[in-house]
Amino acid sequence: MSELKKICVDVVVLGGGPGGYTAAFRAADLGLSVCLVEKRNALGGVCLHEGCIPSKTLLHGASLVEIADRSSEYGVVYAPPTVDVAALRNKKERVTAQLSKGLDNLAKARKIIRLAGTGCFENGSSLSVKGDEEWSVSFKDAVIATGSSPLTIPGLPEDSRIWDSTDALELSNVPGRLVIIGGGVIGLEMAQVYHALGTEITIVEMLDHIIPPADKDIVQPLFLRLKKKYSIYTKTKVTTLTSSEQCLTAFFEGAKAPDEAAFDAILVAVGRRPATTGFGLESLGIALDSRGFIQVSNTQQTSLDHFYAVGDVVGEPMLAHKATHEAKVAAENIAGKKTVFSPATIPSVAYTEPEIAWMGLTEKEAKEKNIAYDKGKFPWGASGRALSTDAGTGVTKVLFDSVSGKIIGAAICGAHAGELIHEAVLALEQGATAEELSETVHAHPTLAETFAFAAEIVDGSITDAMPAKKK
Ligand code: NAI
Repeated sequence: MSELKKICVDVVVLGGGPGGYTAAFRAADLGLSVCLVEKRNALGGVCLHEGCIPSKTLLHGASLVEIADRSSEYGVVYAPPTVDVAALRNKKERVTAQLSKGLDNLAKARKIIRLAGTGCFENGSSLSVKGDEEWSVSFKDAVIATGSSPLTIPGLPEDSRIWDSTDALELSNVPGRLVIIGGGVIGLEMAQVYHALGTEITIVEMLDHIIPPADKDIVQPLFLRLKKKYSIYTKTKVTTLTSSEQCLTAFFEGAKAPDEAAFDAILVAVGRRPATTGFGLESLGIALDSRGFIQVSNTQQTSLDHFYAVGDVVGEPMLAHKATHEAKVAAENIAGKKTVFSPATIPSVAYTEPEIAWMGLTEKEAKEKNIAYDKGKFPWGASGRALSTDAGTGVTKVLFDSVSGKIIGAAICGAHAGELIHEAVLALEQGATAEELSETVHAHPTLAETFAFAAEIVDGSITDAMPAKKK
């Protein structure tokens, strides 16, 4: 048993993902002494090691296959691409390692005390850390940034061919037939990767369309493209799963699905749940909400004033960019600055091909809330830049409040949607109207113009589409 070591700091941060390391870095920059506790030997959390970054690296590899497949229309003909899976895995690992090293340097430059091990709160002012060494950390304030873990489906057999997103990203083998349960962001991104590697893909989604949080009309161009390549069953559930040496058999319940089908692997991508157990939270008496997330105020304070919480553990959307912003607010409040987390919106992106991005209210939400709105929807088939870059199936939709005239939501399906959406986010934060967006000069020809064109439709000043019907 190693000797117990003790330290005393202003702030202890539990969890070294985007929420945790951002809180630690900001607190240190504001002059506080900080200890950052993380189970892994590396910072970056799920996002860097088994989420956002590895998936984007693999998706880029997949997009290169897709580009090669579609290039003949431009007179460029490649031999059918082959993928060296080991090289792709290696590239993913190098990208992760580089970013991880960058985080090490950022932590070191801020003189953050890093402890590798499992942290557990002993009381309101002390955290024990068990790893290769044992530590007791005394602190004034704490930030909980423990993240989330994949949800499972009860009753599935124990079988190494049943994957969660972490297993899928390892790329340890390429199955012949993969069924993905859940047509959300993880399911669709992984489908794209494995399809490029030659896997036959089946997607099963419980609700009536893929990526249910986005409007159906925005997802439709993606759906039309994917259904040519995958079997997609919406309004369908997997009721039972059996495993034999040869295969896994899934039994379906859904109007258009077969009764059963055999697969070589299954990816369960049905959401994530907050990580609230195993680190002493219960004994502190910190309140959870009805869905099991840690309850926080807009200063990120929990029901115990000197405990703050950020990221996936405090609620949806479970996105790294939400976590980092919450983390800054937590650190700033600990340092005595009075800031609050109150963004007008948090954008969402599915890095599919084409990409889907949305922010603010969807049309469905506006209807549910009885908000009167004006809609501008610009089809990319009328965009010179989109057509010339093989992106003509895209669409940009922007919603404006009929009373105030201000933007309330936007959604984009098409190439670089995840980049383009940020103009809409800024417009929402600034309370821009259709007239103001129409008057904002956009370069021609660009995909970004489609956002201005959608606003011009509502403004009544569009000349790149049919004239508005006279009222
Ligand atoms: P998700 O919530 O995005 O999608 C899960 C899907 O599974 C939903 O469409 C749901 O209707 C469906 N589903 C649930 N139970 C089912 C069942 N029994 N049978 C069939 N379908 C079922 O969750 P996902 O894709 O697992 O992602 C988890 C989290 O990670 C999300 O909160 C997401 O925000 C985050 N994430 C974000 C990414 C991004 O921003 N691009 C990428 C990957 C993950």
